[in-house]
Amino acid sequence: MDFRRNILITGGAGFIGSHLVRRMVTRYPDFRIINLDKLTYAGNLANLKDIEDRPNYVFVREDICDLEGILRIMWGYAVDGIIHLAAESHVDRSIRDPFTFARTNVLGTLSLLQAAKACWSDFSGKRFYHISTDEVYGALELTSPEGDAPYGDTLFTEQTRYQPHSPYSASKASSDHFVRAFHDTYGLPVVISNCSNNYGPYQFPEKLIPLFINNIRLRKPLPVYGRGENVRDWLFVEDHVRAIDLIFHEGRDGETYNIGGCNEWKNIDLVRLLVRITDRLLGRPEGTDEDLIAFVKDRAGHDLRYAIDATKLRKELGWGPSLSFEEGLEKTVRWYLDNPEWLDSVTSGDYRNYYEEMYGKR
Ligand code: NAD
Ligand code: TYD
Repeated sequence: MDFRRNILITGGAGFIGSHLVRRMVTRYPDFRIINLDKLTYAGNLANLKDIEDRPNYVFVREDICDLEGILRIMWGYAVDGIIHLAAESHVDRSIRDPFTFARTNVLGTLSLLQAAKACWSDFSGKRFYHISTDEVYGALELTSPEGDAPYGDTLFTEQTRYQPHSPYSASKASSDHFVRAFHDTYGLPVVISNCSNNYGPYQFPEKLIPLFINNIRLRKPLPVYGRGENVRDWLFVEDHVRAIDLIFHEGRDGETYNIGGCNEWKNIDLVRLLVRITDRLLGRPEGTDEDLIAFVKDRAGHDLRYAIDATKLRKELGWGPSLSFEEGLEKTVRWYLDNPEWLDSVTSGDYRNYYEEMYGKR
């Protein structure tokens, strides 16, 4: 079968990547979607069970750092577009093991850029789309606002100076710079987006929201770092992948777009809301599980506040979040409670044994 386009999505077995692969495979039957993933602890093909037999879907297990492997895949599938999500993504892990973050996020991105430059003799009709994070901008202050934002009027815009603090955000910042350098030096057609914190189904339960839902379910402690005063801007994952689809097709070459939920929450307020929703859905009196909250030692270098100004994306491409936080959170909690076997398999590590049998140890 001939496909109109051949799009390589890296990191498609992870949280955001699996939502994006599902959207692209079902929405564009005339595109071949090639999901390239190394299947680290964060990659899980069970996330894509419902679409794995579609004729326009292909999975390849590969490491983005392996330039020769990437070149083979790019030639073999005549790839004409790349949406790059593969990364090490957890700040706490980056504090323990910064080298892995530099290898995957910086050198892996560089090898993909090199492969695209080498394979695309003609850049017309091609696109390299790099998915990044708002954490590259550093941290905002908590101030008394005069405008609409609840925790301060300063927001991250596309012009905000890069000032990453964690090894994770430093590695993502570095990869963003390489992507821009390939645009400015070689004319590679690139676009970048920087998004705020995502939540939704299939997120690995090391990140705040799925970890806490799982712990409430099992009546385990909820470790809130510091006093829970840090602020994050939360976006439902399907709203993020809708923005990615839009930017991939309609974003301007060489541009950066910020994506955010306009939805700032202090961690402690979010945790209390999460406890109430989860208790209700579990049939427990609302708020009973607040006694699980345990204030623990703060994360080193913990960024105080992230908040995105997504005006450019709204004005240029008409994007906006579609769900209120209460709706999105309820949908999310319901999904985890309806899928305890997914939670049990990723927390026990069972899914890893399955891939090792299928693909060998990595
Ligand atoms: P995730 O950790 O859930 O998934 C990452 C995926 O990349 C996994 O499937 C993993 O197996 C794969 N991977 C890791 N190293 C690889 C390598 N060397 N080669 C090939 N594949 C590899 O991450 P996520 O939360 O889905 O984030 C995806 C992207 O979006 C990342 O680039 C992240 O920086 C960015 N982002 C995430 C958020 C968020 O809140 N989760 C917000 C903004 C931006
Ligand atoms: P996280 O989901 O790790 O995302 P990020 O660090 O990329 O923002 O954490 C979200 C917020 O929740 C962050 O301020 C750290 C805090 N947090 C806790 O208080 N306890 C936890 O166990 C975790 C994982 C995070």
